[in-house]
Amino acid sequence: MNLSPEIIDEIKFRNNIETVVSSYVTLKRAGSNFNGSCPFHSEKTPSFTVFPSTQSFYCFGCGAGGDAITFVMRMENLDYISAVRLLAERSGVKLPEEQIRSDGKNEISRQRILNMNKDALDFFKKSLFDDKTGEIARSYLLEKRKLSMEIINHFQLGFAPNSFGALHDYLKKLGYSDEEMIVGFLCGKSSKTGNAFDYFRNRIIFPIIDVTGNVVAFGGRVMDDSTPKYLNTSDTPAFKKSKNLFALNFAKNNCEKMLILCEGYMDVISLHASGFENAVATLGTAITSEQARIFSRYTKKVVISYDSDEAGQRAADKAFKLLQEVGIDVRIIKMDNAKDPDEYIKKNGANKFASLLEASKPRFEFECDRAFAKYNINNIEEKVKASRELCYFIANCPSDVERELYCRKLSTLIDIPANSILSDVNTIIKKNSSKNKKTEVSELYRQSSGIGDRINPESSYNIKASKTEEAILGLMMLKSELLKICVEKLQFDDFVTAFSKKVFEKISNAYREYGKFDLGLIEGDFSLDEISRITKMLSERGRLNCNDEQVLNEYIRVLLSEKQKSTDSDTFESILDAIKKRKNN
Ligand code: GTP
Ligand code: MN
Repeated sequence: MNLSPEIIDEIKFRNNIETVVSSYVTLKRAGSNFNGSCPFHSEKTPSFTVFPSTQSFYCFGCGAGGDAITFVMRMENLDYISAVRLLAERSGVKLPEEQIRSDGKNEISRQRILNMNKDALDFFKKSLFDDKTGEIARSYLLEKRKLSMEIINHFQLGFAPNSFGALHDYLKKLGYSDEEMIVGFLCGKSSKTGNAFDYFRNRIIFPIIDVTGNVVAFGGRVMDDSTPKYLNTSDTPAFKKSKNLFALNFAKNNCEKMLILCEGYMDVISLHASGFENAVATLGTAITSEQARIFSRYTKKVVISYDSDEAGQRAADKAFKLLQEVGIDVRIIKMDNAKDPDEYIKKNGANKFASLLEASKPRFEFECDRAFAKYNINNIEEKVKASRELCYFIANCPSDVERELYCRKLSTLIDIPANSILSDVNTIIKKNSSKNKKTEVSELYRQSSGIGDRINPESSYNIKASKTEEAILGLMMLKSELLKICVEKLQFDDFVTAFSKKVFEKISNAYREYGKFDLGLIEGDFSLDEISRITKMLSERGRLNCNDEQVLNEYIRVLLSEKQKSTDSDTFESILDAIKKRKNN
């Protein structure tokens, strides 16, 4: 445990799960629980449930679960300590800083890397403003890219000097090890000598700063035409490319109306410099569904402003789909005389860009324009193709009204009755839904059979035992009187799978030490996915009405007899046999 249980208690007491969740998700009361659309996967019927009685949440669709702290970890992509800190701040709880000494491995490296990044950024900034070292870089930014000193400081741009060891030596003096620099992606490791060397050399540095102000990564750009143009931090324990957006730390304060999505760091900086402080970019990769969900948490409308070349337009296509899937009103900008927003603003000025934003088209109109540019609709065959592509598009829209309106619109554009179009659309929907059903069924089978269970791989050849274990663990977490009985009657050796053994051990340790159970007392010992599984045990028990002592005793009896069986026949052959049998079924 990194923080005292009293503090965790206080924080959880002041941040009840309903309130925390409802600042991100619209919740509807359903009996004693609440339902809403899961923020962790895209779904049409709400399967995300909040349980006030156990102060937990669980999504019956994707299996994500936990308490207020793990919820914030997932939503804000934070580690445990940062999530606790955020909740503490929100509710005015003071955290004694000396308590935040972590012993969890991930946490050390994450916090350590964040500190190291901060120190590295100091170094990069110093180098940029160093009379001699930074001269070329300053003239590149100020003269070639026409940035002001103000915007350079605002984005904390820096410079990595042309040296294999300057940053390394600087960080070494501050006490960071080679390994930390390598894991944190600030240094590479020479394959010949094994020595660490600076990864970013002779490059302009763009720090990536998350919404809580942590320096999580860097991008580094060359100042000429050499390649690669950009180097970016790869994923580290403190950073996931697919879950961050460049400049969201600024844009989050200007996002009520809309966010502007660009491709390049320089586009974003240029837009911010011209007053569009709601511009963000992905980090050198195409947009992911995780990033789309980040957008949906901050805004209702996104204007895509990608490069006007073909690659940019293809990328815009993908962004369109992903953003629309999470319910965002997506528009796209059409730039005629410039390759990207940076160039557009330099050529035409901020006012013109503002008009482009105004003129940005909603997705369907954009799709029509594109289809009609691609096909000649005076030719019958081509007209059929254009219509089919647009029907596929319409079929993917979740709202009936939307589909109806698009059919009418298309009807006037290609002069075909709206009903014929709608009937084509419905045929496509039917085909899609039977495809979806098939994957859903096989997914359910996969889950229920335990095959491919990454959290508890042993469950697939101990199905009965592992279900029983989960029931017992669920009951322990649900009711304190049952918890007491279990701790007295059972030992961790009575459990069959290693995962359940560990869960039992942590729960009973918490009980012995604090006389009670709360997810907050054990979650430092498990990964987010493991916490989800543990919450699943809890919420499934909570859903059922049989959770008294008699039921518990029956489960215990079954577990002990299953355990007996598994020790009797715990040979390699019998395990193989069981797997074969499962496969044949
Ligand atoms: P300028 O050419 O300076 O205007 O840069 P830009 O920021 O507009 O970049 P560009 O449009 O060329 O590329 C868009 C984004 O893709 C960049 O901001 C980077 O994040 C990423 N990117 C570009 N080139 C590379 C590369 O060579 N390697 C990697 N990993 N990412 C790149
Ligand atoms: Mn550019």
